Amino acid sequence: MKRTTQNMNASLDLKEARTQHDVLPLIRKRFSPRAFTAEGLSDDEVLTLIEAASWAPSSMNEQPWRFRYAHRGSAGFEGLQATFSMGNQPWAPNAAAVIAISSMKHHARNHVPNATWTFDTGLAVGNLLVQATAIGIYGHLLGGFDHAAARTALGIDPATEELICLLVLGRLGEAETLPEPYLTRERTARSRKPVSEIAQRI
Ligand SMILES: Cc1cc2nc3c(=O)[nH]c(=O)nc-3n(C[C@H](O)[C@H](O)[C@H](O)COP(=O)(O)O)c2cc1C
Repeated sequence: MKRTTQNMNASLDLKEARTQHDVLPLIRKRFSPRAFTAEGLSDDEVLTLIEAASWAPSSMNEQPWRFRYAHRGSAGFEGLQATFSMGNQPWAPNAAAVIAISSMKHHARNHVPNATWTFDTGLAVGNLLVQATAIGIYGHLLGGFDHAAARTALGIDPATEELICLLVLGRLGEAETLPEPYLTRERTARSRKPVSEIAQRI
């Protein structure tokens, strides 16, 4: 097999989920890295991810999710980077792109509150991350940012739309590029609760 930079990255093997069942390789491979290469992402790549997200199911096909994106070095990226928490500042600005994930809170047709906007948007982001993994892009979700400042930077009206999360994305870099404690985290295998703890046959 042709060896590429991607499959030589030590994190790939270490971070791959060791599953109890025959889970899809794409799901096992996805993880949230902190080390990214300097390579950028194309607009087409980012829009492919957003389109994958858009094919998620949603209650009444409302599609409440919204995605605003920016490439590293742009004013849009720097505006969001300034809102990253202390814990995310040392590594997240090295990502190639950022996507701000938000959702409309009311049904468009009658302005009644949509009870499932968070659930629907989470499903969409799950799709996005699987598509990303399939094309060699890794994402790391960030809840650690100044939400009020980011909302202002993005011009989001909280009466109608909720800014949920940021997602930084890029190609996988080498763990050695990270300072501690992030280096150790990048070199630590992932874990999950056993299936028996979360599943119950009724
Ligand atoms: C809503 C949400 C917010 C998160 N916020 C942060 C964050 O601010 N900083 C961070 O390093 N990781 C953040 N994460 C990533 C999680 O810590 C990570 O997904 C979890 O530890 C599981 O690791 P894995 O994605 O590699 O399987 C967030 C994840 C989610 C879903």
